[in-house]
Amino acid sequence: MGDLSGKVAIVTGAGQGLGREEAMQLARQGARVVINDVDLPAAAEKAHQTVADIKAFGGEAIAALGDCADTTSAGKTFKAALDAFGDVNIMVNNAGFTRDKTIYGMTDDEFDSVVRVHLRGHFVNMRNAAQYWREKAKAGPIYGRLISTSSEAMLYASPGQPNYAPAKAGITALSIGVAALMQKLGVTCNVILPRGRTAMTESMPHAHLFAAPKEGFDVFDPANVAPLVGYLASPEAAHISGELFVVWGGQVSIVQRPRLDVSYDNPQGGKWDIDVLHQTLSDYFNEKHRPVVDGYALPT
Ligand SMILES: NC(=O)c1ccc[n+]([C@@H]2O[C@H](COP(=O)([O-])OP(=O)(O)OC[C@H]3O[C@@H](n4cnc5c(N)ncnc54)[C@H](O)[C@@H]3O)[C@@H](O)[C@H]2O)c1
Repeated sequence: MGDLSGKVAIVTGAGQGLGREEAMQLARQGARVVINDVDLPAAAEKAHQTVADIKAFGGEAIAALGDCADTTSAGKTFKAALDAFGDVNIMVNNAGFTRDKTIYGMTDDEFDSVVRVHLRGHFVNMRNAAQYWREKAKAGPIYGRLISTSSEAMLYASPGQPNYAPAKAGITALSIGVAALMQKLGVTCNVILPRGRTAMTESMPHAHLFAAPKEGFDVFDPANVAPLVGYLASPEAAHISGELFVVWGGQVSIVQRPRLDVSYDNPQGGKWDIDVLHQTLSDYFNEKHRPVVDGYALPT
């Protein structure tokens, strides 16, 4: 099960954290992996370390450094995969960073940079893969897997992340749309909402909640997320697409796609007036008051 021999994967932000674990997982399953991370000394060193660690267990990997959200750099990463391994079959979009603040104090740059790295970072790399696979499919069946990285920040109120949470929501909408478009080609596109102890969580106020236990199962070991990515990339998951998975520890939860709850038609017909609208919606909200902050599992 899960054999990826002969397949080629690109993982963005794979120098450390979840991306590193996911790249190692794909390599253990037999994929040849391109390790992308930013072209800065510390990140480059980590990317080369991931490559070395994959080679140490007999896997195949190369590093391709560059900003995942930049069209030219992402194009170079994709070309590096084709030049080194002759194909691309699996695109894992994972890279990103946070700049947390509430909307009271967030600057334009803090908003734009986070939306850019996550949402545009996904878009640019998914477009590269989509265009490549559509062209290749003209000559015969192809193998294509897109795996996106969202966050539970888009599910629950995340008042300190008015840049990150909408970027992650955008990634899910992008991915569900691409899944629908590309199913004709046999390409799947799924979204993970992971949790794991990484540099990203270390920088957060609730970092202590991710601490490793003194003994027993380390629930927040980032390696716990990787098997789901390996599974979604595999031939066994060919029928799963457009789905969202919360994943951490020993648990995988399937998230319902956003959908309508109740619909009301104007009892008077035609356009609503405010009195009737108030009366009608009161039936719903009086019975089913929904608190805005609703059971977020990681209090700050
Ligand atoms: N750790 C968690 O609990 C958690 C929860 C929800 C979502 N996520 C998501 O998981 C993904 C991985 O996060 P992580 O926790 O491993 O964080 P991390 O900081 O450990 O790793 C992120 C990696 O992305 C790289 N990166 C940043 N900008 C880049 C760019 N422009 N181009 C290429 N690489 C870039 C970084 O250098 C780093 O290696 C992110 O998308 C994050 O939002 C993480």
